[in-house]
Amino acid sequence: RMVKRNMACRNDIRRHDAPFMAVYKSLIPAEEELEKQKQLMARLENLVAKEWPHAKLYLYGSCANSFGFPKSDIDVCLAIEDDDINKADMLLKLAENLEADNFQNVQALTRARVPIAKLMDPVTGISCDICINNVLAVVNTKLLRDYARIDVRLRQLAFIVKHWAKSRRVNETYQGTLSSYAYVLMCIHFLQMRRPPILPCLQEMEPTYSVRVDNIRCSYFDSVDRLVNFGSSNRETIAELVWGFFNYWAYGHDYANTVVSVRTGSILGKREKDWTRRVGNDRHLICIEDPFETSHDLGRVVDKFSIRVLREEFERAAKIMHQDPNPCAKLFEPY
Ligand code: CTP
Ligand code: MG
Repeated sequence: RMVKRNMACRNDIRRHDAPFMAVYKSLIPAEEELEKQKQLMARLENLVAKEWPHAKLYLYGSCANSFGFPKSDIDVCLAIEDDDINKADMLLKLAENLEADNFQNVQALTRARVPIAKLMDPVTGISCDICINNVLAVVNTKLLRDYARIDVRLRQLAFIVKHWAKSRRVNETYQGTLSSYAYVLMCIHFLQMRRPPILPCLQEMEPTYSVRVDNIRCSYFDSVDRLVNFGSSNRETIAELVWGFFNYWAYGHDYANTVVSVRTGSILGKREKDWTRRVGNDRHLICIEDPFETSHDLGRVVDKFSIRVLREEFERAAKIMHQDPNPCAKLFEPY
């Protein structure tokens, strides 16, 4: 009887696959947007090469990790191997060059936590932030992109979770909620933990890619073309996964004691990371380990007020997935 009930439940949830797929498809950026980004990158590379012939430009963040929405700003990292650069001076110089090259809204934000130069390209209409030597972000962008190539359900789930987080305003780190980067890691981890798993743990496999960045060894198996059938014995569909994701974060996760870790593809104890106490502003109320900067908890922006907001939103979403006849409409209702 139990099996029968589970089957009935399954069919119930799978009725929502089509509407969730429609939402997913509506969020994928068009091909011509990628073309425009390339065009802008080429112009920027030209400009940078004149001033710093040894520098390289890399895209990172949502424009390069395959989890980007249409019309996003693009994030660019200028990498230069030089021991005595002054970032502020460099950004000012860069801003000067950008203005001379007719870019608009040019600003050098030299005192920001991550100092950047901002610009708007009048040709493509794209806005762009350029930072200097934030190479770890370039590497974690590649990791996310590689995971996305293994199983399309990651991209489907992450687009829906990001869309939900933006609609419900829980994707605002300055308000104490989580970054898009954190949500994508939560999705990867969730899919690593399915039985059978939908995603492998690339950092636990024999490395085929290895770089050293800021004294951190970043290595993992990146020949993901060989893993495109990895998740095929798990037949779960998008609606089931959305249901499971919110159910986990509403009722399944042990917030008091555990850390989710994409690096190990498992749940770790807060104790082993020494994340049990508040240190400075890091309260560790929801713990998501950065895959490379392992001392970095992506939940560190969350405080005792915003943790309640977050958990209430997870519960709201889970209830909608359990009960609502048309969850797709309700889930993304603007906050
Ligand atoms: N990043 C990071 N550490 C963080 C936050 C962000 O290394 N604590 C880096 C990641 O490389 C991430 C990029 O900065 O891909 C951009 O972060 P974020 O804006 O959170 O994600 P996006 O993918 O750009 O999402 P959005 O569509 O919301 O802009
Ligand atoms: Mg971004």
